[in-house]
Amino acid sequence: MKRDDGAGLDRRGFLCGMAACGCAAALGASGCTIAEVYTQTGAGELAFDINSGEFAALQTVGETVPVDVETSADPAPVLLIRNAEDSVIALERICPHTLCDMTAPIGVWDQPAQQLICICHTSIFATDGALVSGPSPRGVAAYPVVFDPATGQGVVRIGGEADAMAQALTGAGP
Ligand code: FES
Repeated sequence: MKRDDGAGLDRRGFLCGMAACGCAAALGASGCTIAEVYTQTGAGELAFDINSGEFAALQTVGETVPVDVETSADPAPVLLIRNAEDSVIALERICPHTLCDMTAPIGVWDQPAQQLICICHTSIFATDGALVSGPSPRGVAAYPVVFDPATGQGVVRIGGEADAMAQALTGAGP
């Protein structure tokens, strides 16, 4: 997946979106540990535009698009989900149970319930990645997304500031 740093959203706007995303709140709500939520050690970001080819499905609320976000470590498998008119969310795409790839049709987005279902063994995840039910040993990572419905442009970020935040909270780090 090509990384495009020339997105319509500038970096300041993106970082503001990071602050507003409530990452720490998501941690608390999911009951997951920091290490479980931020499984990527690399940092990277992906700009997307729902007006163009591979992301066009996201023009429709309830649709999903799988992407592999390049990071400074391994690529991060992510499922982008248009879960509302004004929102796109990004969840870790590999189910922690037995590693099914939740690209459709294995991953089913339940729009009314706002839940991602892994049909391999019916693990269900909430919008913040928290495990709702099923055999998965944990939730999936939820990555911050800034999305502008007026332009159709957005950015999803992996790691980076989130890793720094995790280090600060755990007392770890350089
Ligand atoms: S691999 Fe997803 S529920 Fe088993």
